[in-house]
Amino acid sequence: MEVLNSKLTVKNLCKSYDGKTVLNNISFDVREGEFLSILGPSGCGKTTLLRILIGLEKADSGEIIKSGKDISGLNSFDRGMGIVFQNYALFPNMTVLQNVEYALTLRKDTKADAKNIALRTLEQVGLTDQMHKRPNQLSGGQQQRVAIARTLATNPDVILLDEPISALDVANREIMKAELKSLQKKFNSTMLFITHDQEEAFFLSDRIMVMSEGNIEQLDTPLNIYKNPASQYVREFVVEQLDNKYSALLGYTGRS
Ligand SMILES: Nc1ncnc2c1ncn2[C@@H]1O[C@H](COP(=O)(O)OP(=O)(O)OP(=O)(O)O)[C@@H](O)[C@H]1O
Ligand SMILES: [Mg+2]
Repeated sequence: MEVLNSKLTVKNLCKSYDGKTVLNNISFDVREGEFLSILGPSGCGKTTLLRILIGLEKADSGEIIKSGKDISGLNSFDRGMGIVFQNYALFPNMTVLQNVEYALTLRKDTKADAKNIALRTLEQVGLTDQMHKRPNQLSGGQQQRVAIARTLATNPDVILLDEPISALDVANREIMKAELKSLQKKFNSTMLFITHDQEEAFFLSDRIMVMSEGNIEQLDTPLNIYKNPASQYVREFVVEQLDNKYSALLGYTGRS
């Protein structure tokens, strides 16, 4: 099933560790400019999938096609993708500016202009005031913004985000949710966003891919998933969880 405006096509991806299947022959498309969430419980293979997409891990079999080109054999640097890790993975001994500049200095095409690009990106994400601080002098939300700036600076057309806001407190999480959406528009990027939070996925996504134990249970818009869950699993893990959360918020004691 080819999709016309597909940015990324994953075909028959398989991965096992020590004989245990982690990705079970999965195939899907991500559309140009789409915000796609990957929603699934701990251990279902979300991070493994992202690491394979960006080339930090090798699949046992399968294809990854980006903008019509098979990139399965390329190294991470040449895939035109960026990744934001859950723990931010900032360099503690470098300033904010140096953190953003670093990856740019490693690339031939951005080496000469690394500092200017870093400064411009920091401006775009509202971090100019913080640029001479080190990560441990920043709040969690600011550190997260540095991690995102560092990825955006390399101008990837596909950005992979591994639970990037789950470590933040509630207030910062709400702010970052809104910011992620506006950054996506500003940078015109395609985003794959891992989460195990149903509400986050529903708020942010054009479409959601629901995973369980290495399989795709359903890939559809939030509303379609809510209205027509494809399996008992999706009904329980997504629909009932959302219902419970909202009925709790509204003060109901449960569904009759
Ligand atoms: N390098 C590895 N060697 C062996 N097993 C691994 C390795 N990396 C991941 N696994 C296993 O693969 C499965 C999927 O792991 P993965 O990190 O992709 O899960 P996840 O969906 O990201 O979970 P979480 O929500 O907890 O981050 C787990 O059972 C994990 O133990
Ligand atoms: Mg993970």
